Amino acid sequence: MDINKTMQDAFNKQIEAEFWSSNLYLAMAFWFRKEGWNGFASWLFKQADEEKEHALDMADYLITRGGVPEMSAIPAVKNDWNDPKEVFEAVLKHEQHVTDLINKLADVADAEKDRASQNFIDKYIDEQVEEEKNVRDILLLFKQMPQHAVAHIDRKVGERE
Ligand SMILES: [Fe+2]
Ligand SMILES: [Fe+2]
Repeated sequence: MDINKTMQDAFNKQIEAEFWSSNLYLAMAFWFRKEGWNGFASWLFKQADEEKEHALDMADYLITRGGVPEMSAIPAVKNDWNDPKEVFEAVLKHEQHVTDLINKLADVADAEKDRASQNFIDKYIDEQVEEEKNVRDILLLFKQMPQHAVAHIDRKVGERE
């Protein structure tokens, strides 16, 4: 059975959100490159690619179900941050927001009794758990940073004869 209009509209909104995420992460990657943080930039370029893949995967699913993916104008993203930790805090906040969007997409599939879409969306529910965890792990490394500095002072002070 072809996908219905309500479900198609909900997917098209999510496709727009995935492209917006991709652009946000690209903007973050550019900012890191500009500031000379190439490792963080590389992580965010990969993250941006992944979001684009999500958009393409959803568009492909719509076509498979006899629907039509519609490209819309993508709203502008933020382009400036103060420091690396602030960027990753923004990534976590954004992924939490996306989790909310995916949950709402699943609610539409439930309301429409669209079993195929429920199945399809399930992998994105798992994906969001993984996404949030990955960013939280990075933020934990930032949290430990001052402790690395304290450990360094500890070793120095311990050198007293
Ligand atoms: Fe995504
Ligand atoms: Fe994501």
